[in-house]
Amino acid sequence: MKKQIKVAIDGPAGAGKSTIAKAVAKRLGIFYVDTGAMYRAIALKSLRSNIPIDQEEEVGQMVQKTEIILEHSEARRVFCDGEEVTEAIRSPEVSRAVSKIAAYPVVRDRLVQLQRQEAERGAVIMDGRDIGTIVLPEADLKIFLTASPEERAHRRWLELCNSGREVSLIEVQQDMEKRDRQDSEREVSPLVPANDALILDTTGLSIQEIVEQIIALTLVFKEG
Ligand code: DC
Repeated sequence: MKKQIKVAIDGPAGAGKSTIAKAVAKRLGIFYVDTGAMYRAIALKSLRSNIPIDQEEEVGQMVQKTEIILEHSEARRVFCDGEEVTEAIRSPEVSRAVSKIAAYPVVRDRLVQLQRQEAERGAVIMDGRDIGTIVLPEADLKIFLTASPEERAHRRWLELCNSGREVSLIEVQQDMEKRDRQDSEREVSPLVPANDALILDTTGLSIQEIVEQIIALTLVFKEG
């Protein structure tokens, strides 16, 4: 496999991006960068510091002064201005606020810059919505993961239940539909597959099967 391989994983919420990207990263011994965590950290900071999420200018000023660190350890802890926010960024409140913030060009410009810096550290698998189109357009391998809306909502609901949150499936499904719409219809970097992305529908497939498919695809890239 190419030493500095860059793998881009994009797709809607609940398509399995982070679970699959983490597993592939572990197998290949490369970095995993969860770009959604960065947008979530900014949304959380807005909520906590009472910056209304519809105030683009204020949010934009805050982003410039915010330090986000994604730990490259197994625990993959997320820090915002020195404080650990790994769990807090997964709350339904943050999930509801994040799409709005992710549509602001000033937020995207800053976070894309951070994401490219992360990718320069070496071989990486990065997941998000615009990795193959904007962040790493030269990525060696671009995968666009999808799954049926029902399966995606069910997976996200299970994830939330397993982390001890009490939410109903219908609530998760409605939030997800709204977020997908906002992410796909926004003017800047909408969620669309790159022209050269491979589209993988994960409905009915196990994590293991998808991971194996992706690993097989990375083997095409020779040492370099
Ligand atoms: O992958 P996630 O659900 O943690 O992403 C959180 C939000 O951030 C989601 O609404 C889409 C947005 N996002 C984005 O616009 N671009 C990215 N590269 C990653 C996430």
